[in-house]
Amino acid sequence: MKHIFISAAVLSAALPVAAIQANPFDERAVPPPPEIALSGTLAKTDLDELSAYGEVLFSARFTTLDGAGRPMATQSIIPTKRRQPPEDMFFRTAGLDSGSCAGCHNVPRAGGAGDFVTNVFVSEGFESADFDNVDPQFSNERGTNHLFGAGLIELLAREMTAELHAQRTAALKRSHASGQPVEAVLTAKGVEFGRIVAHPDGILDLSRIDGVDTDLVIRPFSQKGVMTSLRQFTVNALNHHHGMQAAERFGNRWTGEADYDEDGHADELDVTQISAMTAWQATLAPPVQLAPEDESWRQAAEQGAEVFSQARCSSCHVPALPLTSLGFDDPGPYDAAGTLRAAEVEIAATYDLAQLDWAGRLERNEKGEIMVPLFGDLKRHVIADQQVAHFGNELLPQRFVDRNIFQTTELWGLASTGPYGHRNDLTTIDEAIRAHGGEARKARDLYVDLPEEDRRALIAYLKTLVIE
Ligand code: HEC
Ligand code: HEC
Repeated sequence: MKHIFISAAVLSAALPVAAIQANPFDERAVPPPPEIALSGTLAKTDLDELSAYGEVLFSARFTTLDGAGRPMATQSIIPTKRRQPPEDMFFRTAGLDSGSCAGCHNVPRAGGAGDFVTNVFVSEGFESADFDNVDPQFSNERGTNHLFGAGLIELLAREMTAELHAQRTAALKRSHASGQPVEAVLTAKGVEFGRIVAHPDGILDLSRIDGVDTDLVIRPFSQKGVMTSLRQFTVNALNHHHGMQAAERFGNRWTGEADYDEDGHADELDVTQISAMTAWQATLAPPVQLAPEDESWRQAAEQGAEVFSQARCSSCHVPALPLTSLGFDDPGPYDAAGTLRAAEVEIAATYDLAQLDWAGRLERNEKGEIMVPLFGDLKRHVIADQQVAHFGNELLPQRFVDRNIFQTTELWGLASTGPYGHRNDLTTIDEAIRAHGGEARKARDLYVDLPEEDRRALIAYLKTLVIE
């Protein structure tokens, strides 16, 4: 609304992408994409322009004039037709459930987390597209997590995947050369992912892989750890929440139709528009750790950091993982059909995160690697058991991952993003810690048995993890 007071001429000169939103005669929310060659390393000015446009799309409240709504398509991430159009365009459970991405991701600002009221009802959405019910047998209810530092998370996941794939190849080669089965421990950036056994005939025993899919691709997104990339998630979310269908998945190439959702709008978002949304999310500054000015908080936080490692919290919430390169290729290396893939473009665009102001503030280790302070391991764990069952509250397995298994939540930004837990249904950090069962049960019991002063110190420490 502020824009109304800015002269239209000034606005369109300075901020071409915002102009359409301020146009009183036009109710479209999506301005035309900027003309930027998406190939090779983008100049800083191009990356800034692309990201700025991505931010406009992330905050845009899509309208039917843009193609919002999907009368004949479900929320499923695999293009799936409905049997008949829904009675209502917006529908809290099966979607559309929001006007914009930022309608949910807005704490403490666009790109952030969301309160309980922004929970999403996640279902695979093939059969029961129109569930009018929050009963957990129809969908899994998830809280909105924040996207700050998401580019670094995806880069870590890609490098870890490459490491695991190299270990698999090496085991196969050694087994082939020796004629004997070879067992290999899988580790990436110091995190263990179980074992594989390679046989001389090229067969792999995958039964003891732990915390990652059997294709050894680390999928860092969604609380379940089942989504590969920001680009994939963005295409999913646009369809699910807004009925805005990206041509790269719902267009002619894969569905044989340009207007798959049959709302009268063909190819609702093109490759550049998805790239822009990806670029904006990938370049969001990571959360930071506060150095408290208050002396008693500072001391407690120091003590709390000790407790965090003594109680073995840091075995899953690893304070920092090392990253070799800040070059974010888009499309990335591990997406599957339906999300633009590296093989479908001549030269991928690279967003060089090293050009961004915040990159210089990240610590480096003695090898010169960037230490990403995520407080996570990008690994899935059993997090509920018979006695401590809270996190086992879902009824639908997702993408063949069991119901009591979730990926370690990155704790960076924690203090800015309550409530907690994958359903955003725990009001305090203490409750979230006490809810850990399964593989985290020992750490949780250690925490519960600590003297109160140590528990308070641990919370004071976690409260230094904020989004600026
Ligand atoms: C109705 C609320 C809502 C809307 C609208 C929404 N999101 Fe989300 N978002 C969520 C929830 C809830 C999750 C966690 C999903 C899960 O764990 O399965 C999430 C997760 C994500 C993630 C993964 C983050 C991570 O670290 O795992 C990305 C990326 C994302 N959203 C991008 C978007 C984009 C882009 C849009 C707009 C096209 C969007 N979201 C719209 C609620 C929303
Ligand atoms: C075995 C691995 C593991 C260990 C050990 C572990 N956690 Fe977690 N932690 C997780 C997983 C997985 C989740 C996600 C739970 C969910 O929401 O389903 C989580 C979630 C959390 C959350 C909630 C974050 C949010 O934003 O919702 C906090 C806080 C947390 N852990 C703190 C701790 C502390 C403190 C310790 C040590 C006492 C600890 N964790 C030990 C795996 C672990």
